[in-house]
Amino acid sequence: MSKMVDSTIKILILVSFLVLVSQGYSECSSNNLSIYQYLTGNQLRLFPEYRVDIINNCPDCIQKNVKINCPNFGTVEFIDPSILLSVSGNVCLVTGGKPIVTNVNVTFTYAWSDSFIFTPNSSEISC
Ligand SMILES: *[C@@H]1O[C@H](CO)[C@@H](O)[C@H](O)[C@H]1NC(C)=O
Ligand SMILES: *[C@@H]1O[C@H](CO)[C@@H](O)[C@H](O)[C@H]1NC(C)=O
Ligand SMILES: *[C@@H]1O[C@H](CO)[C@@H](O)[C@H](O)[C@H]1NC(C)=O
Repeated sequence: MSKMVDSTIKILILVSFLVLVSQGYSECSSNNLSIYQYLTGNQLRLFPEYRVDIINNCPDCIQKNVKINCPNFGTVEFIDPSILLSVSGNVCLVTGGKPIVTNVNVTFTYAWSDSFIFTPNSSEISC
């Protein structure tokens, strides 16, 4: 009898632990976007080429309508607007607003005299 109570308590502890863990994982924001950038070593019309990898690092949550700050962004290399679209001078839309799943790189390359600083702006998260 007391063995049963004991295991019930163990199960309750386990369940509340799992609830806590899953709540922790759902605490994601548009900041849960990693943006990596590096020189590819290629040149376009004498401008160095940069590669950008954008990764949703929120486990089990998709992010859509992802916007990044891309102040004064310019490129001499064509970028497919369904990957990156400048919606104003300062904000760029990623994947045309389509959902980005966890840990899958969204990649584009651009070429300019200097690199730009890209930071997360906003997104809609669904877990
Ligand atoms: C989401 O981003 C916040 C702030 O950068 C960080 O504290 C948290 O650990 C991130 N969550 C995950 C699941 O990566
Ligand atoms: C994804 O992006 C990261 C960070 O830039 C990079 O290290 C990794 O090689 C990329 N993965 C693929 C499959 O391109
Ligand atoms: C998002 O972009 C708008 C327009 O440039 C800007 O006013 C706002 O501060 C940005 N938000 C973040 C979190 O960067």
